[in-house]
Amino acid sequence: MANSRIAAIDVGNDSLKGIFGKMEVDINIPNVIAKDVEDRPIIGIEELDNQDPTEGIHIRLHSPTLKDNNSIYRVGHLATKSSNSMELDPGSSKSEEDQTLVMLFAALAIDAAREENKQIFKRSNNVIEATYTLGTGLPLREVKEGKDVGYRSRLLSSVHQVEFLVTPKYQGLKVNIKFEEVKVYPEGFAAFINLVMDNNLNIINKDLIDKRILIQDIGGLSTDVAVIKNRKVDDDKAQGFNLGVSESLEAIREEIRSKHGVELDSRRDVVEIITKKNDRNHIMVKGSRTSVHDIVDRILLELAKKQYRHLRNIWQKNSQTEICYFIGGGSIILKDYLKALNNNLDGYNIDFFEDEKESIWMMANAYYKLIADFSKKNQKEKQSEEQKMVKTK
Ligand SMILES: Nc1ncnc2c1ncn2[C@@H]1O[C@H](COP(=O)(O)OP(=O)(O)OP(=O)(O)O)[C@@H](O)[C@H]1O
Ligand SMILES: [Mg+2]
Repeated sequence: MANSRIAAIDVGNDSLKGIFGKMEVDINIPNVIAKDVEDRPIIGIEELDNQDPTEGIHIRLHSPTLKDNNSIYRVGHLATKSSNSMELDPGSSKSEEDQTLVMLFAALAIDAAREENKQIFKRSNNVIEATYTLGTGLPLREVKEGKDVGYRSRLLSSVHQVEFLVTPKYQGLKVNIKFEEVKVYPEGFAAFINLVMDNNLNIINKDLIDKRILIQDIGGLSTDVAVIKNRKVDDDKAQGFNLGVSESLEAIREEIRSKHGVELDSRRDVVEIITKKNDRNHIMVKGSRTSVHDIVDRILLELAKKQYRHLRNIWQKNSQTEICYFIGGGSIILKDYLKALNNNLDGYNIDFFEDEKESIWMMANAYYKLIADFSKKNQKEKQSEEQKMVKTK
């Protein structure tokens, strides 16, 4: 198959992260969808043309892999404004939810429809034929249960069509998505790969590769801890629990509302207030600079304590661990609290990533490394086969 484009996609409970092509494109979409029951009001064409397509994803999906085929969805930012929006339930399985596929197909279609990709994908009568080589992942728990196999084959076995409805710039386009190859990696393993290898899968961290390490990934709705030994993820030791930072962010938002009468639009606004470089933990109340430090400290410290208890628990069961890395968006928010607790308590060897982007994009980066390497080797194989054919002719 010609012209297959690389896509590395991490469908996080909080947001999807995608890296495409030669890494020239990356996209981040909140993992929120809303099934459309009524028509989305048509906005003026001009207004639509000026907007970013990702801000207004409105699509109809046709795919036999969906439990609910041919439905209309608002996805991401547009869905957050909807009254019937759905976020993933912490107890659910990523591989079995339509929501995972809706997010995945939407992200691929947004990439496929880009003006620049007219060179790669065939377009006729507003229909785009897009072929991808996809690297993605599932939580260790689901891979352990063997759910990756079915997930992969459902993606591979059919064509999935995304029809853009009232979406800026792309309204009226249809994208037929086919996969040349799909690789489903376990999330914890992927994080390890990203830490020790570069884009060509050369080892960049010799010190780390043979160590026993823990990777605690604190996400929006869940936390996963991978145990790595002998360069492998120890399946039996890995643990996941339904505890992320979303709930605490929501609690902070609620308390700011009840105490100061200030209504913040979203959890993202809370993140901004507690992580900004200047004037951290302050908001404006009726024009006066006001501290929310007490609220933030109390709620985040409580969550950090719970996270620390999990770390302690797992470290006890893996006493020869040398270091634990904290990754995911939640680690950025809890970093100072976890460090303070650790200094006062057990003094484990723990580490964080200074670069926020590195922490949040860990999985997507790992999938990219793995799938790009796979694709390169695959192409070489094909080339040498073709050469053999030519020689034998
Ligand atoms: N730049 C940032 N700085 C600080 N916190 C952030 C940042 N971006 C996102 N977050 C917060 O971190 C939390 C987790 O984000 P992350 O992207 O790691 O979750 P996820 O991978 O989508 O979810 P999960 O791991 O549960 O599947 C979110 O609640 C988000 O609000
Ligand atoms: Mg995550």
